[in-house]
Amino acid sequence: MEDEEFYYPSQDIIDHANVKEYDDLYKYSVEHREEFWAEQAENLNWYKKWDNVLDKSNPPFFKWFEGAKTNIILNAIDRHLLTPTRNKLAIIWEGEPGDLRTFSYHALNREVCQFANILKSMGVKKGDVVTIYMPQIPEQIFAMLACAKIGAAHSVVYGGFSSEALADRINDANSKVVITADGGYRRGKVIELKGIVNKAMELSPTMEICITVKRTGLDVYMENDRDYWYHDLKALPNASHKCETEQMDSNDMLFLLYTSGSTGKPKALVHTHGGYSVYTSTTHKMVFDLKPEDRFWCAADPGWITGHSYIVYGPLINGSTIFMYEGAPNHPYPDRWWKMIDKYGINILYTSPTAIRGLMRFGESWPARHDISSLRMLGSVGEPINPEAWKWYHRVIGNDKCPIMDTWWQTETGGFMISPLPVTPLKPGSATKPFFGNEMAVVDDNGNEVNVGEEGLLVIKSPWPGLAAGVYRDPERFIETYWKKYQKQGWYLTGDSAKKDEDGYYWIIGRTDDVIKVSGYRLGTAEIESAMISHPAIVESAAIAIPHALKGNAIHVFAVLYKDYHASHELEMELINHVVLHLGPIARPDEVKFIDSLPKTRSGKIMRRLLKARLLGLPEGDLSTLEE
Ligand code: PRX
Repeated sequence: MEDEEFYYPSQDIIDHANVKEYDDLYKYSVEHREEFWAEQAENLNWYKKWDNVLDKSNPPFFKWFEGAKTNIILNAIDRHLLTPTRNKLAIIWEGEPGDLRTFSYHALNREVCQFANILKSMGVKKGDVVTIYMPQIPEQIFAMLACAKIGAAHSVVYGGFSSEALADRINDANSKVVITADGGYRRGKVIELKGIVNKAMELSPTMEICITVKRTGLDVYMENDRDYWYHDLKALPNASHKCETEQMDSNDMLFLLYTSGSTGKPKALVHTHGGYSVYTSTTHKMVFDLKPEDRFWCAADPGWITGHSYIVYGPLINGSTIFMYEGAPNHPYPDRWWKMIDKYGINILYTSPTAIRGLMRFGESWPARHDISSLRMLGSVGEPINPEAWKWYHRVIGNDKCPIMDTWWQTETGGFMISPLPVTPLKPGSATKPFFGNEMAVVDDNGNEVNVGEEGLLVIKSPWPGLAAGVYRDPERFIETYWKKYQKQGWYLTGDSAKKDEDGYYWIIGRTDDVIKVSGYRLGTAEIESAMISHPAIVESAAIAIPHALKGNAIHVFAVLYKDYHASHELEMELINHVVLHLGPIARPDEVKFIDSLPKTRSGKIMRRLLKARLLGLPEGDLSTLEE
């Protein structure tokens, strides 16, 4: 809305697009939602097809492709082995020190079968939850796929989380097996992972077995009968390269992924084999206009939903060649990404606004050193992209010719919900329009659509196959968080505010709840505050998000001290480090401000909105509920 100019796709893009027009197909997809999704599902293989495309008898627990038998591995690997894709590269991987590994689909299958047999030999069964805490190395993908293959659910925990955060997730999932590596490389340093896992295991009574991949050669502590080196297990005779894929019901659990919400501890969203396979592969193919020869790079970490859906599952189901890089974008120099795009001939780059802003800062001369003309499509995800960064990305990286797919979605949605297609005229900063099948709206508290250009709550009015099946072992929390507010209408509450413009384009503004997006990472104020109050000096605390030029948002924390403690710079630093220790480096507050008391409503809720307004010098708004 800030920017009304359109960016039109070139004739070449239009001529070769997988989907040539939006309006008619969108109309069809919402009027015939189940037919549309059944047609997409026909592109995949199934052991047995569905009896019912969508069972909506028990909302919001929707069941897609009911009665079908499948396994995501049937489509992500097995079917490719019967076609020439077998010999195509599935993964090109570069480590931060510059080491290179490649795997054809045939080789990927061998690795995954072997890992699956190892997991089985360790007693992992269908329905178990395996925790994965790894650097970005190929074994991370093998581990995920191996779990799926034998019907166990994976729970990948991002490597930037602390041992405590990891232990919370292991305990909540009742996970008995964890897969890790000795360490990983980041910005020229070795990041220790096994040590963190060791600490987490002390806090996790359910934990029995830890499998460790050797990546860095770091000296690590291993305990008998609990710790196993992956390479030792690979050498055992039962670790064969052949393994049957377990037949699963369409709605059986594929993975858990923890994400932050408004209250309490992070919750695990559950995604399933059938609907998620259909949704991730369809969105990936249509939005990124995937061609068989493409090399696709999603520069996220597999530890987040973006990595699950668009490094691993969507691209592998589509038989693409994925590129994966272990380390920091600016190591050893700020041209690392551009150098790799040149070297491997990457065609599609999908990343976050924070990464773009970070690389933009180093100037145009770094990309200019390399031939990045192989790029055909670009993508953005995780937070709103400011028009300035959008234009730089388009002009400097996309050479004014690559359309940018600004994809709006969430851990809960499984895949893209609002996104352009390559043929969509673009407006910098807008994710444009809903993906096929999805009906969305911007509404007020009562559910009435707000006027064009007005801010409101973003809701999704119709079910889609990528929607999470629920919160792990907590159906009430699923209803409470996403469906309660518009229960009468049966709408999904996204937690984001947005505006819709006169062309029907959506502009995402940001979270309306107590979720903070820092560098595109999702954190809850509750987690940060509970880390703060675990420090003996702190009575209570409130975390808020303040706009930040590079990170999108930065964390600022207000803290009330016990009377024996005095505000000082040293204490501020100690508290910042305390949060990092408890949650991990991604949760590092920029600042801790000491305050005598926190403003609260009469019902005792902290008024974070007011703290933010005061810090930014903005109008304080309605203070009628403020307790004096
Ligand atoms: O606020 C929105 C923001 O990220 C939130 C979801 O975070 P998470 O579950 O971690 O998933 C991130 C990757 C899909 C959303 O509620 N968000 C995500 N994509 C965009 C975005 N905000 C603006 N524009 C986007 N393209």
